[in-house]
Amino acid sequence: MNPVIYAATNFSAIGFTVAAVVFIATLVAFFFNSRTARRELGAEIELAPNRKPYYSDEELETKKLDVSLSLALGMLVIVAVSLPVYWLAEPGRQDGAIANFERIFIDRGGELYQDLGCAGCHNADGAGGVAQALTFHEQGEEPEFRAEVLWRAPSLNTVLSRYSEDEVRYVLNYGRPGSPMQAWGTPGGGPLTTQQVDNLIDFLRTIQVQSYDPLDISDTDEALAEEQRAEIEALQGAVQEEIDTSLDNGEYDSLGQAVFNLGYDTGRSFAAGGYGCGRCHTKDWSEGLLEGDDPDGGGGNLGFSLRDGATIRRFPNSNDHYDFIFEGSDDGAGYGSGGLGSGRMPGFGSVLTGEQICAVVVYERNFDHPDPVDEGGVLAEYRRTGSCNVPYPPGFTENGGFQSEEGQ
Ligand code: HEC
Ligand code: HEC
Repeated sequence: MNPVIYAATNFSAIGFTVAAVVFIATLVAFFFNSRTARRELGAEIELAPNRKPYYSDEELETKKLDVSLSLALGMLVIVAVSLPVYWLAEPGRQDGAIANFERIFIDRGGELYQDLGCAGCHNADGAGGVAQALTFHEQGEEPEFRAEVLWRAPSLNTVLSRYSEDEVRYVLNYGRPGSPMQAWGTPGGGPLTTQQVDNLIDFLRTIQVQSYDPLDISDTDEALAEEQRAEIEALQGAVQEEIDTSLDNGEYDSLGQAVFNLGYDTGRSFAAGGYGCGRCHTKDWSEGLLEGDDPDGGGGNLGFSLRDGATIRRFPNSNDHYDFIFEGSDDGAGYGSGGLGSGRMPGFGSVLTGEQICAVVVYERNFDHPDPVDEGGVLAEYRRTGSCNVPYPPGFTENGGFQSEEGQ
């Protein structure tokens, strides 16, 4: 049977089995009871129990009384001793039960991750992979076959440093329409219950390679801070290496462009594009169908178009632009000038270095620009001051309007 349907019907199958067992047991009990029916009461072939003579007074007040009293004392001792013992053991028992619960949930999530095929697309350890898919041209009446592609299925082993759990839950519930990521939760019409979706998130939590957020580095415990920095640097080091490789290979012209398209390369497919921007801001990026050798894109897809001064209008101050990419969006929270977040823009602060984020800010503010602002200069300034202050590209005004040479 299809594992999805199987998972969804598992509980009802158990329910039916229990009902059947109870029904059969009732029948059997009824059968035996009716066979061993008692003889009619009240015939007094033996004396009825309430008419039998009881113990004599002597007997009642000696042996019988002693036995009752000792029994009562014994029970009192048991109660007196066992209550404190129970009380002492209770916190441990509760902790154990919680840990056990969590273990069960994680195991269930892990099984779902395998059975539903998440591992097939995103890799068993969540490092990211590809999904085979067919794409179509959507113009015209009938969709027309375009190509068979390997759609990048982003890494999930850092997904919780990019997204909050609620944001991941949203993706699991509703999927990413138009991509191979289907809706899995009931709200989006998928087969999984709320609890199964929660179990998947419990499991995802255990495969995260990053447990610390750069914002949470301890400022009281130096040893802990050291450990936290080392962990963050390990991942950032791997990202840096990939960016250096792509620049050395001449795939991109600038650091900002390399960050924007991080993971696009089919051969290396770093984190399957999980840390790049193009997969949401450039059409055809995830499918690997960009044409030409300059995939600067940014024309918009799941995320808005960043072209034609859009980011300058949104973030007149480039430091706000920087903060937004560092933290990502929150559902219902405003950002920049007139922006309203949906929680779908991930935060990149734990994966990208400040310098890389600043470079991508420069890149985005200069999309399409014939005479881009000098990235090297801005980055040197960033290194010196820690502030990602990008001057407006020539021709752009504070509200993002572009003034042509003649118009001035
Ligand atoms: C058929 C392949 C496929 C399967 C099966 C699949 N996914 Fe995905 N998933 C994708 C693709 C492709 C994307 C990226 C979609 C896009 O281009 O925006 C994605 C995106 C995601 C995201 C969003 C990550 C991000 O950073 O944007 C999460 C979380 C996720 N999948 C979890 C899961 C889980 C959990 C399962 C199993 C229940 C699962 N996926 C099953 C292909 C798949
Ligand atoms: C998983 C998809 C996704 C990825 C990956 C992604 N973005 Fe976004 N981005 C969005 C969405 C969606 C929005 C719109 C805001 C919202 O819905 O919360 C957005 C908004 C933005 C905006 C504001 C645009 C506006 O006009 O309001 C900027 C700037 C931006 N993203 C830059 C980036 C950069 C830089 C990266 C890579 C480091 C990136 N994004 C990666 C989905 C994504």
